[in-house]
Amino acid sequence: MMRTIDWVNGAVEIIDQTALPGELRILRLHTVGELIAAIQSLAVRGAPALGVAGGFGVALAARVHGDDPAALALAVRKIESARPTAVNLARGAQRAAVLLPHGPEAVLTEAFAIRDEEIVASQAMATLGADLVVELCGARPRLLTHCNTGGLAAVTIGTALGVVGELHRRDRLAGVIASETRPLLQGARLTSWELARWGIEHRVAVDSAGPFLMARGEVDAVILGADRICANGDVINKIGTYSHALGAQRAGIPFLVVAPESTVDLDTPSGAQVEIEDRGAGEVTAFGDAVNPAFDITPHDLVTAIVTDRRVIRVDRGEKP
Ligand code: MRU
Repeated sequence: MMRTIDWVNGAVEIIDQTALPGELRILRLHTVGELIAAIQSLAVRGAPALGVAGGFGVALAARVHGDDPAALALAVRKIESARPTAVNLARGAQRAAVLLPHGPEAVLTEAFAIRDEEIVASQAMATLGADLVVELCGARPRLLTHCNTGGLAAVTIGTALGVVGELHRRDRLAGVIASETRPLLQGARLTSWELARWGIEHRVAVDSAGPFLMARGEVDAVILGADRICANGDVINKIGTYSHALGAQRAGIPFLVVAPESTVDLDTPSGAQVEIEDRGAGEVTAFGDAVNPAFDITPHDLVTAIVTDRRVIRVDRGEKP
C-alpha cells in the first residue's frame, strides 16, 4: 500500500493532496519552508500524517541547521505552529526535537518511529473499530463518514476509513456515504478517491444532507476521525462534524470517533481551550466576505464511543479518555 508521507533519500516525499483526484502527484520536500508550505496548503493533511510531517520536518531542520541552536529552535517553532488545531503536528515536532542534542540521525530515527507507530495504530484501530461497529449496528451497516480519514490522512490505512475498509474486507458493510466536506472537499475529492481504489461502493452527499439522511433512516452509524480529543471527551474535527453528531443523536444512531492515541490530548481539558484554525474567506468565496473556521468541537455528550489503537472508550457510559 502506498505511503502518504515518507522520508526518501534525504527528503520528505508526500502525495500532493491538492492535486487529487485529478492527478496522483508526488512532491519532494527538501527544506523546512517547503514542508511548512505543504502543510499549510493541505498538500499533506490529516492529524496522523501531520504528526509524521512534524517529525520529518525537524529531521530536515537538523540536517540544515545542525550546528545553530537558535536557528533550530526557530525552525521547530515554525513547524509545530504551521497549523494549530491537530495536536499531532506539534506533538510530532516536539517528540523529534527532544533528540536534537544527539544529532540529525537520532532525530530521523525518532521520526521513523513516529511514522511506524502510526502505521501500527491504523491497523489496530481498523480491527477494534470494525468489532465495535458490528457490536453496535449488527452485520452490514450503512455508514456515513466526514472529511478524509483514510491512508491519505495517516501513512497507510487511516482511522475511521480504515474501519470502513476492514468492514468491507469482512463483507460486513452495506454502503458508505461520504460527506463532501466544504469548502476544500476532502470527502468528495479524497475519501471517494480512496474508496474507489479500495473497490468500495459509495455515494457523496452535500454536508447538510447528512442529518436529513440519518432522520430518514438511511444511515446506521456515523464514523469519522479527530484532530484532537480533549480530556473530557470533546472531539475536535473538521467543520461539519458537530452537525453530524446532532443528527446522529436525534436519529438515535451511534456517533463513532476513530483516532490514534497520538490525537488524545489530556493536557487540554475541553474543546473550549482549543484554537480552531481560521483559514480565511478566500477558500469559501471570491465574491464577498465569509467566515471559515476549519474545525468544530463536538461535545462529549453527543459521542457514543472513541476508538483508539489501544482501547474503546464508551463515552456514552461516562468513560473519559
Ligand atoms: O483540514 P484537514 O483536512 O487536515 O482536516 C482533517 C480532519 O479533520 C480529519 O478528520 C482528522 O484529521 C482525522 S484524520 C485521520
